[in-house]
Amino acid sequence: MDMQKDMIAPSILSADFAGLGEEIRAAEKAGADVIHLDVMDGHFVPNLTFGPPVIKALRKTTNLPFDVHLMISNPDRYIKAYADAGADWITVHVETCPHLHRTIHHIKELNKKAGAVLNPATPLCFLDHILADVDLVMLMSVNPGFGGQSFIPDTLNKIRKLKKKIDGRGLKAGIEIDGGVSPTTISAIREAGANIFVAGSAVFGSEDYAKAISLLKIAK
Ligand code: DX5
Ligand code: ZN
Repeated sequence: MDMQKDMIAPSILSADFAGLGEEIRAAEKAGADVIHLDVMDGHFVPNLTFGPPVIKALRKTTNLPFDVHLMISNPDRYIKAYADAGADWITVHVETCPHLHRTIHHIKELNKKAGAVLNPATPLCFLDHILADVDLVMLMSVNPGFGGQSFIPDTLNKIRKLKKKIDGRGLKAGIEIDGGVSPTTISAIREAGANIFVAGSAVFGSEDYAKAISLLKIAK
């Protein structure tokens, strides 16, 4: 899979939790490329969502890749469980991984795409010795925990610098952006060099998912 192609990844955090299967089917029909699943533990981030049994149940509803964003302390303990539940991509926060090299390789040994995530205040230099090993880098453009927050503008500089590092070293890692992606913010984010766009409220908070996704795809 080309991790540098343009992809829209609706986040089910803003979907109707009473009907997640239906919501995922609707997002697929509306043109989603990837489904983004936010796993929160109430410890690393101040919110709680769902774990492997829910993901396993949702796995039956679509063949789209599942992009599992682990906002949990000590993710190493649970990576195998998320892989078994049906994750295709597993992203871990560098803030939670003292042995990031080991964690990324653990994910890859399970034949999953491996990604490193940085919080807004975490510098890019944390990636210097792992960039060649990851399939994608995700930059948080809000402080993780909740949907519907505003995009932090400084992320654009961070994306430009990251893109330069990836291209400068001839690497093929994708750049995913999570938080505050909307038809208004996406053009600048894309222009800065990102190619995978998480969108929670911009898709599931809209009346017409197909229209919302196409607006995100065409904004240049
Ligand atoms: C935030 C989550 C995001 C969230 C984005 O902690 O990681 O994936 O769903 O929501 P929006 O797109 O509404 O900012
Ligand atoms: Zn997320």
